[in-house]
Amino acid sequence: MHLLLLLSSFCAIIQAVAVSTCDTNFIVTTKVTPSYWRATFSCPPLNIQGLSFFQDYYALIDKIEADSEVKVVVFDSSAPDFWLDPFDVLNTVPPELSWDSYWGNVTRLANLPVLTVAAIRGITSGGGAEIAASLDIRFGSKEKAIVSQPEVSIGVVPGGGGLDLLPRLVGRARALEMVIGSDDMDAETAAHYGWLNRAIPDAQFESFVDKFARRVAGWDHEGIAAAKKIINAQSGFPTVNEWKEGFTAFATNFNRTVVQNRVAAFKKAGLQTDLDFEKNMSEIVLNYTGPGPWNV
Ligand SMILES: *[C@@H]1O[C@H](CO)[C@@H](O)[C@H](O)[C@H]1NC(C)=O
Ligand SMILES: *[C@@H]1O[C@H](CO)[C@@H](O)[C@H](O)[C@H]1NC(C)=O
Ligand SMILES: *[C@@H]1O[C@H](CO)[C@@H](O)[C@H](O)[C@H]1NC(C)=O
Ligand SMILES: *[C@@H]1O[C@H](CO)[C@@H](O)[C@H](O)[C@H]1NC(C)=O
Repeated sequence: MHLLLLLSSFCAIIQAVAVSTCDTNFIVTTKVTPSYWRATFSCPPLNIQGLSFFQDYYALIDKIEADSEVKVVVFDSSAPDFWLDPFDVLNTVPPELSWDSYWGNVTRLANLPVLTVAAIRGITSGGGAEIAASLDIRFGSKEKAIVSQPEVSIGVVPGGGGLDLLPRLVGRARALEMVIGSDDMDAETAAHYGWLNRAIPDAQFESFVDKFARRVAGWDHEGIAAAKKIINAQSGFPTVNEWKEGFTAFATNFNRTVVQNRVAAFKKAGLQTDLDFEKNMSEIVLNYTGPGPWNV
């Protein structure tokens, strides 16, 4: 797919910086019991989706698929402020690993007879929010969970399935607000919209999620499998062609000069390296509207 190759060369021309993307062990898997697993994003402080995220994510899906005992997998994070941050745009991630393999694997996980739960106690932004949206259930800390699709504020669109998953989760009007507003959304609003299943006070969050997962892990596998299969079939999961349309729009727009200049300016201001930049991005983007050049 030539677009993917083009995208990777655009990324390559943006010089690599010393950003923590972790060479190995991005996802640490813990078998709490044989039926209840925890998959912990462990590349603090930002959990940026780089090479090892994709490697580990697909390898984990292989392990879940091959295991006959696992019934519920909770995806959490060891980084205090972030659940999962966007795709790494400052370092080259081989397109055959990221995009060529992406939707097939996301769909494979969605179709496994295992309940997947995003346990979100931090910022989940861009591609990270799209991974969350592709999982079966999302629980968020009332005080700490934030969801954001910032792509349009940069001049692109969500390319990781958000354009297809969001309208199914929250409806057309709210999807348009989330995507085109490109702003941070707090957990209570996200729960009200239906992006989160619910927002849980942080002090009770871990015990709530653990109790839920242990409950599910106790059921017969057959019941879980049949329920998920039929709900999936009747609610529909975005097809590869639907996803590809959004990805192509992302890649095409990422190539625009104004976007390349904006990403370069963001990089100078701390994109992927500075915690304050990453936390305050929804405000900072307001300084980079229009064609530039921006005073950086
Ligand atoms: C999942 O990713 C692996 C590794 O990149 C790839 O070989 C495989 O084809 C992907 N699976 C699907 C169903 O796309
Ligand atoms: C991307 O930009 C390059 C030049 O910088 C151009 O050759 C190429 O056709 C563009 N691709 C797309 C998909 O816009
Ligand atoms: C936003 O940035 C300011 C400094 O510009 C910093 O003091 C503040 O803590 C940041 N806010 C967050 C939520 O990180
Ligand atoms: C936006 O730019 C103004 C003027 O340069 C600056 O004072 C302000 O701190 C910037 N805001 C953010 C959030 O970066």
